[in-house]
Amino acid sequence: MGTVETAQKLLGAAQRVVCLTGAGVSAESGVPTFRDAQTGLWARYNPERLASPQGFAEDPGLVWRWYMQRLAKVEAAQPNPGHLTLAKMERGWPGFRLITQNVDDLHERAGSQAVIHLHGRIAHFHCQRCKRAYGLQPEDPSAPQPPGCGHCRGLVRPSVVWFGEMLPAEELHRAMEAISTCDLLLVVGTSGLVYPAAQLPHLAKRAGARLIEINPQPGPLSDLADVCLRGNSGELLPALLPIA
Ligand code: OAD
Repeated sequence: MGTVETAQKLLGAAQRVVCLTGAGVSAESGVPTFRDAQTGLWARYNPERLASPQGFAEDPGLVWRWYMQRLAKVEAAQPNPGHLTLAKMERGWPGFRLITQNVDDLHERAGSQAVIHLHGRIAHFHCQRCKRAYGLQPEDPSAPQPPGCGHCRGLVRPSVVWFGEMLPAEELHRAMEAISTCDLLLVVGTSGLVYPAAQLPHLAKRAGARLIEINPQPGPLSDLADVCLRGNSGELLPALLPIA
């Protein structure tokens, strides 16, 4: 455990700060985390069925409808004070880098300029077969099936990383570079269960960085942390920035 004051001291002494965010940072904006999202209507589907190439091949309509429902939630959401604080950190601290596992654009809408998206973007699309990129929005998001590719006989899908797929090489490279040279890592709103993203805090620690975790619940990354702040990121992140 730890206090906001201890975390502020670590931040004040750091030169190169990196933040790794997960679904928890968008929870207070009304975007359900992955564990929460598997409730209600979608409770009977396991994540692999909704988020894997095999699941998409077996039932493209089911996967499409799931992502379009999540996209609608993202579009209706607004950045919360946690997102806004991270954008402020980027503006104020030259060495600051933001790495996210989130596929929403709430960091960008809060003003963050150079977000490293490890798991892709829900509002970007490409053909599953020929990989051709498609426009930002499907013509009819309420369609029960994904649109067909205009260039091959493949199906269009959201450009998010699914289970069993590689992380985008360029983003992973940028993330590794930031992680290996940071002296402080903030780990915010991630369960730390999904690899390789969950490996990044281990690498930072091995390279000598201090680690602050912000999460209402303890998890597998808590033992690595120098300071664990238990609570919501929408409250704790703003509390970390000294009053201007
Ligand atoms: P998870 O849904 O696994 O975990 C969300 C985390 O946020 C949990 O540890 C919660 O305790 C925490 N949390 C909830 N509310 C919070 C709040 N208000 N403030 C801070 N933390 C809060 O989400 P991720 O760790 O992001 O992968 O999941 C990682 C990956 O697993 C996702 O990117 C996705 C998923 O399968 C792909 O899509 C490839």
